[in-house]
Amino acid sequence: MSAITDLCKNTAILAPLAGVTDLPFRLVAREFGCGLCFTEMVSANGLVRETAKTLDYLKTCPEDRPLGVQIFGADPAVMAEAARIVGEHDPDILDLNMGCPVRKVVKTGAGAMLMKDLPLAGRIIAAVVRAVKRPVTVKMRAGWSRAAQNAVQLARIAEDAGAAAVIVHGRTADQGFSGFSDWSVIADVKRAVGIPVVGNGDIRKPSDALDMLKQTECDAVMVGRGALGNPWIFQGISELLAGASLGNRPRLAERYALIRRHWDLEVRHRGARLAGRSFRKHLLWYTKGLPSSGRLREAMGKMTDSDRMFAELEEYFRLLEQTQPEIMT
Ligand SMILES: Cc1cc2nc3c(=O)[nH]c(=O)nc-3n(C[C@H](O)[C@H](O)[C@H](O)COP(=O)(O)O)c2cc1C
Repeated sequence: MSAITDLCKNTAILAPLAGVTDLPFRLVAREFGCGLCFTEMVSANGLVRETAKTLDYLKTCPEDRPLGVQIFGADPAVMAEAARIVGEHDPDILDLNMGCPVRKVVKTGAGAMLMKDLPLAGRIIAAVVRAVKRPVTVKMRAGWSRAAQNAVQLARIAEDAGAAAVIVHGRTADQGFSGFSDWSVIADVKRAVGIPVVGNGDIRKPSDALDMLKQTECDAVMVGRGALGNPWIFQGISELLAGASLGNRPRLAERYALIRRHWDLEVRHRGARLAGRSFRKHLLWYTKGLPSSGRLREAMGKMTDSDRMFAELEEYFRLLEQTQPEIMT
């Protein structure tokens, strides 16, 4: 068994999500059985310059294990040096971002731009593998575009360069986050390489994970947006993988209790002053789709006083519980 499949046996992996998969959110995902979490992408240049903000992304704690740290960059020497710095923080996995389609990243030659220059991608992977003792993984898209779909080639290059696994998001870079993740690309990669393949893209409910495993024969699945406001998805996936039937969705009181725990983690790890800003998006995800939540969500989007925010939230959940106690959220 390889490192990555060992680390996430019978469960799913939390995807790297910029601005989201910080330490508090990772701890929440782990509470629901998430087997392996990734940090958001960290700039290799920032790491080498040791900027305080960049080093902040590496913040972790003993419960935050196993952990993959993802870095991005376009220069093999800088990526190797950044990997060495990350290695000092003892991550379980070091992941290389070769899939980010965001302009700010691709214009520097990094992220998905590397799918347009496979020899350079190969040099980066080889340089990083030489620089660290940890397993190195490569996260990629299906290709830059439909016409230039080359995940199979990049996966083979990654394998030859010593990568421990590849993670394949079935969208092309030029799709951004629209359209759908083409799982047949994940299946093609799985047939092409001997190292483990992690499938990613469009797992929104627990049964999607089983469908992806069956359709692509990938070794593990990674969940991104499906976990936003819904860390219960990891529990559901574990239940189905264990052959059990899917448990109930969380009741209102459980949802509210989780919101409070997540907030406490934010305050503990970020401090009360910064917690509010970072937590607001989670609140919006946790309350999405709840009955008559429009006004509350609008107010929360603007609110700066956390005591007032929680007073309103508590009142909303209390009233809802009174009037519709049967709701599974
Ligand atoms: C808000 C957001 C931030 C993301 N940040 C990263 C990132 O830092 N590194 C990365 O490799 N992918 C990033 N992604 C892509 C996800 O990891 C994942 O590949 C993609 O969302 C598809 O999976 P999903 O359908 O389960 O969300 C990001 C996606 C979103 C929506």
